[in-house]
Amino acid sequence: MTTLPTAELHLHLEGTLEPETILRLAERNAVPLPYHDVDDLAARYDFADLQSFLDLYYANMATLRTAQDFADMTDAYLSRAAAAGVVHAEVFLDPQAHTAHGVPIEEVLDGVCAALGTAPARHGISTGLIVTMLRDHSAADAMRTLTDVLRTGAPIIGIGLDSAEVGNPPSKFVEVFARARAEGLHAVAHAGEEGPPSYVWEALDLLGVERIDHGVRSMEDERLVARLTEDQVPLTVCPLSNLRLKVVPDLASHPLPEMLRRGLMVTVNSDDPAYFGGYLDANLAAVASLHGVDGDGMRRLARNSINASFLDDVRKRELLARIDAAVAATNASA
Ligand code: ADE
Ligand code: ZN
Repeated sequence: MTTLPTAELHLHLEGTLEPETILRLAERNAVPLPYHDVDDLAARYDFADLQSFLDLYYANMATLRTAQDFADMTDAYLSRAAAAGVVHAEVFLDPQAHTAHGVPIEEVLDGVCAALGTAPARHGISTGLIVTMLRDHSAADAMRTLTDVLRTGAPIIGIGLDSAEVGNPPSKFVEVFARARAEGLHAVAHAGEEGPPSYVWEALDLLGVERIDHGVRSMEDERLVARLTEDQVPLTVCPLSNLRLKVVPDLASHPLPEMLRRGLMVTVNSDDPAYFGGYLDANLAAVASLHGVDGDGMRRLARNSINASFLDDVRKRELLARIDAAVAATNASA
C-alpha cells in the first residue's frame, strides 16, 4: 500500500527510540541497563496496559544524555517518517522526563530543535514541536517546566499533556494551560485513552485544547460525540498503540470506522512507533484493512491530518493539493 501524503500529529519523539538505538546510547553514555541484548529488551515489549509501557519507556529514556543524542533521535525519526509518507510532523517531547535525570533542559531542546530545523532540507518535512507535561507529576512541576522552556526561547508551537491518565484529570492543569495559551501556544491533551469521557470534556472546557490525543473512549458518551462532531474537534487516533496497550482487544474492534461513519474529525498517527509495531505507514495499512474503511475514508483521513494541523493556510492548501494529486494518480492507474 502506498500512503497518501499525511501530517503526523501524535508522535512522542522518545517513543521512536528503537531497541538497537537504546543499547547503543547506553554504551555511548555508560548508562547501566538491566537487559543483556536487543532480544532481551525486545522481549519486554508485551504490555498489559499504559502504565506497564510507561515504566519501560521512561527507563529507556535515561540513555539520552547529550544534545547530540536528542538530535540523532529526532533525525532518525524524520528519516523514517519521510519514508512512511509524512509531509508534516507536530512532535511531542517530555522535558520533565529528562530534567529528572539531570539533563539540562537546554541540552534537550537544542538537540531536538537542531534536527527539526534541518527537516525541510534533509527530509522534505515541515515540523512543529509540542512540549508535553507529565500529568502524573504535580501542576507546580508542569508550571516550572513551562517557565524553563519559555526561558530557553526554543521555537515551540504548543503544550500537551500525557503519561498515566487515570487519576490525573485535565482539571489538575488548568493554570498551566491558561498560561500557555496566554503565551500564544497551541494546546492539546491526551484524553479518553484509558481515562473516561469526562476527561475529554475537561480537556475541552477547562484546558481549552484544540485537539484531543486519542479520545477513543469518547464513543461511550453520545453527548460528547455530538459535541466533537459539531465542533469538528480533531482526534489524533493511534490504532496500533491502542492495540498494544490493550485499549481495544483486537484491531477489528477498533472504533475508528465508526468514528469516521459518525463524521468525527479523526486522524491516524503512530504515538510510540518503536514500541507499538510500526510507523505511520503501518498504522495506515492497519486502518485500510478494517471493515468499513474504503479509499474515500483513507483520503478523508489524509485530508483531516492536514486540516487538523497548526500549519498556515498556504502550506495547508499546498499539502491538500498533493493529496488530491496522489489520489488522482492512483485512480488513473487502477
Ligand atoms: N506517553 C507516550 N505515549 C503515551 C501514551 N500513549 N499515552 C500517554 N502518555 C504517553
Ligand atoms: Zn501519545
